[in-house]
Amino acid sequence: MIDLSGKIALVTGASRGIGRATALMLADAGCDVIVNYVTSQSAAEQVAREIADKGRQTAIVKADVSEEEDIRSMVDYVGETFGRLDILINNAASGGFRPLMESTAQQFERTMNTNVRPLLQLIQAAQPLLTAGYRDGQGPRSKVVAMSSHGSHQALPAYGLIGASKSALESLVRQLALELGPQGVNFNVVLAGLVETDATRNLPEAHRFFEAVQARMLVGPRPLTPEEVAKAIIFLCSPMSDLIQGHTLVVDGGVGIQG
Ligand SMILES: NC(=O)c1ccc[n+]([C@@H]2O[C@H](COP(=O)([O-])OP(=O)(O)OC[C@H]3O[C@@H](n4cnc5c(N)ncnc54)[C@H](OP(=O)(O)O)[C@@H]3O)[C@@H](O)[C@H]2O)c1
Repeated sequence: MIDLSGKIALVTGASRGIGRATALMLADAGCDVIVNYVTSQSAAEQVAREIADKGRQTAIVKADVSEEEDIRSMVDYVGETFGRLDILINNAASGGFRPLMESTAQQFERTMNTNVRPLLQLIQAAQPLLTAGYRDGQGPRSKVVAMSSHGSHQALPAYGLIGASKSALESLVRQLALELGPQGVNFNVVLAGLVETDATRNLPEAHRFFEAVQARMLVGPRPLTPEEVAKAIIFLCSPMSDLIQGHTLVVDGGVGIQG
């Protein structure tokens, strides 16, 4: 088991899905965890209760990551309340599934402002916390992991806006690694295959997508769960991945390597 005892972690969009599983697994690994949400207060409170039951400190923070002021307030709160930040999981995302030809400029901006810009604004706000006390020659002082999908590099039906946002997000991670790697911040991406969460189970014909993906899994008949994705995220938060910088780790059971 990876030991992250004493670390302070912030997970955006931790009330549901992959963010929730990651927050709980970080707590299992010994972290105190700040649970961000925007609409699902009772779900966020439930996650925080489970974290507290594991003996960890926790707090829930309502913040819309598409609003710069909310991001600043959330990071200020983390600094004032927890005094440090060691792990940041940029997980929150949204964006409707629709063809590009039916997408408006407003929908484009909303998707980018929710899925891409928050990473930059979170890092700008949290830079002092993420780099505090770093000395040359040490391992990374802090870890940042962002969530992507196959839409970043594949053309998928009705996924144009989200796919473009994930491409931009992966690029941003590389650029941030270049700028802040020398100050002790380790940036990476976890690219997940299709996971059953609220975001995907309500897709039209969702069962067809899940069946098609399951048929292509190269790890036997085994679903890709939020917990399986969270394991890869925890690895990228641990000292075991210190020399992995600016990269994308694919967790999809081998689906994406097939033509
Ligand atoms: N599911 C998949 O198949 C899949 C595959 C690859 C990558 N991903 C990526 O993994 C991440 C999590 O996906 P998921 O499927 O777990 O999503 P999900 O179940 O729909 O949960 C989304 C989470 O993000 C939060 N959120 C949404 N908009 C927000 C905002 N403006 N400010 C703050 N929080 C916000 C939600 O908070 P509330 O509950 O408060 O609304 C919720 O906690 C996303 O980046 C997604 O693109 C998912």
